[in-house]
Amino acid sequence: MKIGIIGAGQLGRMLALSGYPLGQEFLFLDPSPDAPGGHVGPILHGDFDDAAKLKELASKVDLITFDVENVPVDAIREIAKTTPFLPQPDALGTSQDRLAEKTLFRSLKIPTPEFHAVDSLADLENAVAKVGLPGILKTRRLGYDGRGQFRLRSPADVEAAWAALGSVPLIYEAFVNFGREVSVIGVRSTRGEIRIYPLSANTHEDGILRYSLAPYRNAGLQKQAETYLKRVFKRFDYAGILTIEFFVTKGRLIANEMAPRVHNSGHWTIEGAATSQFENHVRAILGLPLGSTAAIGHSGMVNFIGTMPQLEAVLSIPGAHFHGYGKAPRPNRKIGHCTVTAASPAARDKAVKRVLKTTA
Ligand SMILES: Nc1ncnc2c1ncn2[C@@H]1O[C@H](COP(=O)(O)OP(=O)(O)O)[C@@H](O)[C@H]1O
Ligand SMILES: [Mg+2]
Repeated sequence: MKIGIIGAGQLGRMLALSGYPLGQEFLFLDPSPDAPGGHVGPILHGDFDDAAKLKELASKVDLITFDVENVPVDAIREIAKTTPFLPQPDALGTSQDRLAEKTLFRSLKIPTPEFHAVDSLADLENAVAKVGLPGILKTRRLGYDGRGQFRLRSPADVEAAWAALGSVPLIYEAFVNFGREVSVIGVRSTRGEIRIYPLSANTHEDGILRYSLAPYRNAGLQKQAETYLKRVFKRFDYAGILTIEFFVTKGRLIANEMAPRVHNSGHWTIEGAATSQFENHVRAILGLPLGSTAAIGHSGMVNFIGTMPQLEAVLSIPGAHFHGYGKAPRPNRKIGHCTVTAASPAARDKAVKRVLKTTA
């Protein structure tokens, strides 16, 4: 089969790298001539909102998936009429809009921070009055890695927040004083088979994922996360990998956002699980039997953000696996990651500390 991937970023590149051993072929669509995926497969050059290019991609492949979320859903619905598009365009459309996403969670009885839509300064004042402070004002669309967010601590911040973000539709939500953040990643195939990875504990800095530790063992939270994930699977008759990010507070999960795709907090599964999230995504959309999602030992994944550490320094750390994405270094840009695998949480934590040092 030839699989089209919209977006040739590192996620698309790792998808292709996991799909070649299964005998699959890939064709990327990306505007950038030096996108990471282009080093491992052919790229069709074009913008994600170029309807003609999307059609051309559809005509050249058997099936389409994506590594970016910001693709116009109306154009996708058009091409999905002739070429299977997975995960489902409805799931993609919901995840593109934080208001639609949180409204979906609410309708599925998945707890979220209290939230309100904000389209005017008066809306923001009302939302702050209802939800309280501190809170976060976010753009409904196009935010990632903490971009498009403004934290409000006091009523005096309202005007600055509005001035910073007020030109687009917004959502105001309560600030959750979380003990930790976790994510659950699961996969459902077109045949309805479901497998779910153990939870990953995620640490963000400035809104960007810095490192993940997995498995995060907590039987109660694992079960709760799986229940929530399955509700979303069911709602969309979903196929592919699905991620939900949560805050943990008072022993409960509060959903923050979902991603209908492979996720940065699941990169540890390449070396740390029986089957990686990337391979299981390919298997799922092709309707193949899914692989085991069991963890092998204890893993830690550290992102390389802005600068690349020395390859030699990283590889001298026991159990370290280096992944460079072939991207030019730029501040706040994810350009690679390292996963360490170890036999015990203590050995894993020690290795993660060493990796973090190489990036300091
Ligand atoms: N309501 C909130 N309460 C507390 N922290 C938050 C909240 N929303 C976001 N954050 C912090 O900012 C990070 C990024 O926000 P998120 O909503 O996940 O956006 P992005 O799409 O940029 O990942 C979160 O992982 C969390 O650390
Ligand atoms: Mg996030």
